[in-house]
Amino acid sequence: ALVSSTSLLQAARAGGYCIGAFNVHTLEMLQAVVEAAEEVQSPLILQSTVGTVKHLGPDYIAAAATVASNRSGVPIALHLDHCSDFQVIMQCIRAGYTSVMIDASHEPYDHNVAATRKVVEAANAVGINVEAELGRVGGVEDDLVVDDRDALLADPDECARFVADTGVHTLAPAIGTAHGIYKGDPDIDFERIARIASKVSVPLVLHGGSGIPDAQVRRCVELGMSKMNVATELRIVFSDAIKAVFAANPDENDPRKYMIPAKQALKAAAIEKMRLCGSVGKA
Ligand code: 13P
Ligand code: ZN
Ligand code: NA
Repeated sequence: ALVSSTSLLQAARAGGYCIGAFNVHTLEMLQAVVEAAEEVQSPLILQSTVGTVKHLGPDYIAAAATVASNRSGVPIALHLDHCSDFQVIMQCIRAGYTSVMIDASHEPYDHNVAATRKVVEAANAVGINVEAELGRVGGVEDDLVVDDRDALLADPDECARFVADTGVHTLAPAIGTAHGIYKGDPDIDFERIARIASKVSVPLVLHGGSGIPDAQVRRCVELGMSKMNVATELRIVFSDAIKAVFAANPDENDPRKYMIPAKQALKAAAIEKMRLCGSVGKA
């Protein structure tokens, strides 16, 4: 059965390693990261965005993830990524998700607290994990002046207050990463991670994992990041493998002929991320 991500992430925080949370959009993508986790005996967090939940249906996703967890020797959690809609969160919980993110980070602090508390109450009733965000994970940082940037990053004292005010199980503090591939290197505020980790005992989540240089990921993990979300890089690897099949054979029409190489490429990329996170052998 699928497990809550809380215990996996608490073990990661205590053990000084990180667990990769991989966004998947198709059955083959899900299978690829599950096979990766099995091969290197890593715990795994499968993730879907709200868009993918609407595209596939939460029941289909939860059913596939449940089959994977029942067949697998490694612990697997299923997480709903960035969601600001309480109804979608409840639909996913009902379908069998074992972890959800309530993202009200664009709202004022008090509203973020209220929205998060509401989800924590529902999640605690069924024993699943809740992740919330403080500050804003960028996508637009490049255009911001320093003062603006500072205002977007999570304040360590506010992080401590937020965890106490909400009872949230895992926290995603904005520390300078962004979704997507960076134009240059990301501008990560490592000092801020250290200060947040010293004030907050719940596992911390690193968003925007694609495109962060390996050495910087390792530093984030050392400083206390216990979950790393990876989406864009995996989509690119998967899609590029499919494109390569069609480039070589534009008339290909057997889905297995392009899905199998795509799965293999994604599996290899996921194993690399698991090594980087230090989760290999922790299943
Ligand atoms: P990337 O697309 O940069 O990997 O970010 C993923 C993420 O944070 C999903 O929540
Ligand atoms: Zn994110
Ligand atoms: Na990124």
